[in-house]
Amino acid sequence: MQDDFAQRCRQRVEAALETFLPAADIHPASLHRAMRYAVLDGGKRVRPLLVYAAGQACGAPEPALDAAAAAVELIHAYSLVHDDLPAMDDDALRRGKPTCHKAFGEAGAILAGDALQALAFQVLAEAPMPDVTDAARLAMIETLARAAGSRGMVGGQAIDLAAVGRELDIAELEDMHIHKTGALIRASVLLGAACAANPDAGRRRALDRYAKAVGLAFQVQDDILDVTGQTGELGKTAGADRALGKPTYPALLGLSEARRRAQELKQTALDALAGFDDRADALRWLCTYIVDRTA
Ligand code: IPE
Ligand code: IPE
Ligand code: MG
Ligand code: MG
Ligand code: MG
Repeated sequence: MQDDFAQRCRQRVEAALETFLPAADIHPASLHRAMRYAVLDGGKRVRPLLVYAAGQACGAPEPALDAAAAAVELIHAYSLVHDDLPAMDDDALRRGKPTCHKAFGEAGAILAGDALQALAFQVLAEAPMPDVTDAARLAMIETLARAAGSRGMVGGQAIDLAAVGRELDIAELEDMHIHKTGALIRASVLLGAACAANPDAGRRRALDRYAKAVGLAFQVQDDILDVTGQTGELGKTAGADRALGKPTYPALLGLSEARRRAQELKQTALDALAGFDDRADALRWLCTYIVDRTA
């Protein structure tokens, strides 16, 4: 059942991204090719799935969610392009393909990331969102901007780079993860909920508790997979964190304690959904998928 949900939502967001991205032959073509290369044909699409699942839990119709799902994936794709740059994690492999800068050069990748970020906000501002009010749309733009910016994902990336080779304590590590990965995951859930009519403040707070736990759990599992996963399966270079001297959950706590923390966060997320009916089953499935995934 949830496999159907994931397949359907992945198809929806793929179609939306295809619509919103400029065609590969539009001038300047090499920039547009780099943008399409970074976004299409790869990735688990976890953030769009969270948008659709949170929307479903709140009763939003799927067509209202396409723009938000695509926008958050565009921000995520841009963050990966920049994360892989030589000045950052210096990675050669992403989503099973050469990284954007390997394929299009460093300047090409920087510009593709810049343009993807701008496109995300263009989409949120102008794409059709049936039954979503302009006030709700504006609030969504703010949610995504805050999550992407210096107090969200980019801030987390800055903390990450400043931490290389240093020993963080657990609170500092958690703060880094909450920002660099948690912020965009949290925004995905909030954007989905924002597309529903008649928002209920109590349910939104519960969803926010879910989103915060899942956001942190996602990066804990990403850190674990860097140690336990295989490059072929991950589609990115395994062992990169240790090679770069990155502070991670397994490095700080050991693998089994990191795994225990991920399971604990999964339970916190599930508990937050206790007051929801079966329309929240996709959210329940997603937090299990995020923590128990092997790639
Ligand atoms: C990887 O994200 C980067 C992090 C924020 C940990 P994903 O694991 O969601 O990457 P894709 O989108 O599936 O490639
Ligand atoms: C990336 O974290 C977080 C982003 C904002 C992209 P990582 O550096 O751990 O992501 P991967 O492991 O390269 O996908
Ligand atoms: Mg990084
Ligand atoms: Mg990286
Ligand atoms: Mg990682």
